[in-house]
Amino acid sequence: MLRHPGRLLGASVAPGVALAAALLSSLARCSLLGPSDPAASVLSPYFGTKTRYEDVNPGLVLDPEAPRRDPELLDGTCTPVQLVALIRHGTRYPTAKQIRKLRQLHGLLQARGPGDGRAGGAGGRDLGAALANWPLEYADWMDGQLVEKGRQDMRQLALRLASLFPALFSRENYGRLRLLTSSKHRCVDSGAAFLQGLWQHYHPGLPPPDVADMECGPPRINDKLMRFFDYCEKFLTEVERNATALYHVEAFKTGPEMQKILRKVAATLQVPVNDLNADLIQVAFFTCSFDLAIKGIKSPWCDVFDIDDAKVLEYLNDLKQYWKRGHGYTINSRSSCTLFQDIFQHLDRAVEQKQRSQPISSPVILQFGHAETLLPLLSLMGYFKDKEPLTAYNYKEQTHRKFRSGHIVPYASNLIFVLYHCENAKTPKEEFQVQMLLNEKVLPLANSQKTVSLYEDLKNYYKDILQGCQNSEECELPKVNSTSDEL
Ligand SMILES: *[C@@H]1O[C@H](CO)[C@@H](O)[C@H](O)[C@H]1NC(C)=O
Ligand SMILES: *[C@@H]1O[C@H](CO)[C@@H](O)[C@H](O)[C@H]1NC(C)=O
Repeated sequence: MLRHPGRLLGASVAPGVALAAALLSSLARCSLLGPSDPAASVLSPYFGTKTRYEDVNPGLVLDPEAPRRDPELLDGTCTPVQLVALIRHGTRYPTAKQIRKLRQLHGLLQARGPGDGRAGGAGGRDLGAALANWPLEYADWMDGQLVEKGRQDMRQLALRLASLFPALFSRENYGRLRLLTSSKHRCVDSGAAFLQGLWQHYHPGLPPPDVADMECGPPRINDKLMRFFDYCEKFLTEVERNATALYHVEAFKTGPEMQKILRKVAATLQVPVNDLNADLIQVAFFTCSFDLAIKGIKSPWCDVFDIDDAKVLEYLNDLKQYWKRGHGYTINSRSSCTLFQDIFQHLDRAVEQKQRSQPISSPVILQFGHAETLLPLLSLMGYFKDKEPLTAYNYKEQTHRKFRSGHIVPYASNLIFVLYHCENAKTPKEEFQVQMLLNEKVLPLANSQKTVSLYEDLKNYYKDILQGCQNSEECELPKVNSTSDEL
């Protein structure tokens, strides 16, 4: 009966909304929801890196264990021999910094006098008062940790990938899984939840053991690979710690689009416009996204904004990602070349082993990291590059931009490389082929714009990065000859 809940729900909404809501909430516990989720707001498509995975992927099957076939994936004479997946952690709590700003905004609303009932959002009710009374359920200790919904994101991703690539995720390959993770709790916990999902796949109905007791062991921490940005001096100096590197983000915060929102929100919440700033507006918007992603509710914070506001706030978030992690500065993407090379070393090894008719030592490699891990890598590979840079002054012109972080790196986003071995290949070169998937959808390869590439062709296309990019050099700061320093 739960196999086709979408249809079932559609039929039951008219006779009883309460029944539908009850059914939905029971479904929410065990599976992802499609666009019919009543908690999803019209603002959901604009949450940027705080977007729920299911909002980007509305076609996800409700039963993650249902057998899957993607018509774009190679089959027939080509069999997948290795999968390398880079996975962003699942849904998380706000960071302590975000929670502090939210508390500041909440304090502002509580300090304001009783509303005169004049202003307020829909229907003239006093939204400022409603928000002042709305409990702040985020505390400092939560600081960016993985939430239960985030564990579910990972378990279900594991189940879906195991259904999509049953031969790679076979029982006998389980002990040969290789897991790496960033040292951040949310990533370590994501790796563990993913393993529990796989356990569920192999042993339906049995409670999973502690990850430490699992055959493949717990994920190993490797920050040099998964948090390469922390180790790249040039990136740290020129971007991360450089007050002017994010010039366009700061300029947009005080630009006309944001000013308009500031005035509107000040009027809606009946607070002095001078008490508000772009950061506080942004945290109100984020709270709408956190309440949806973490608690599955439509928060009153969402009522502060309309779709036009949401588009501006999405742009503000994208501007930051663009200049700090994307095509904005070359070092952003170049700093990920060790990770890129590491992926191809895995693929190379699998090719060699297959050529020698040896078993593949690591058929499945899973690496858990951040949006900040995936965006530079995708940029390095040439993806989501707009003709014009995203600036503080071309918001309108960038309406149809490719670089929309919510579409690229929502929670639990994943970039997967699949290496295939093809029988009956006419030439040895055609024996090995590659496909890439972003968020479980086949991503056309940059060298051919096709859904599949010969492995050799792909390596040739990226030879500059594979051979000419060394983090030790890329990340080195230009030498300055300063005689005064030597004194
Ligand atoms: C900081 O960024 C600006 C803008 O890109 C750049 O001109 C400047 O050289 C950077 N400063 C340092 C110390 O790298
Ligand atoms: C730095 O100083 C050394 C020694 O004085 C000199 O040989 C070199 O050319 C200088 N480099 C630059 C970039 O000025």
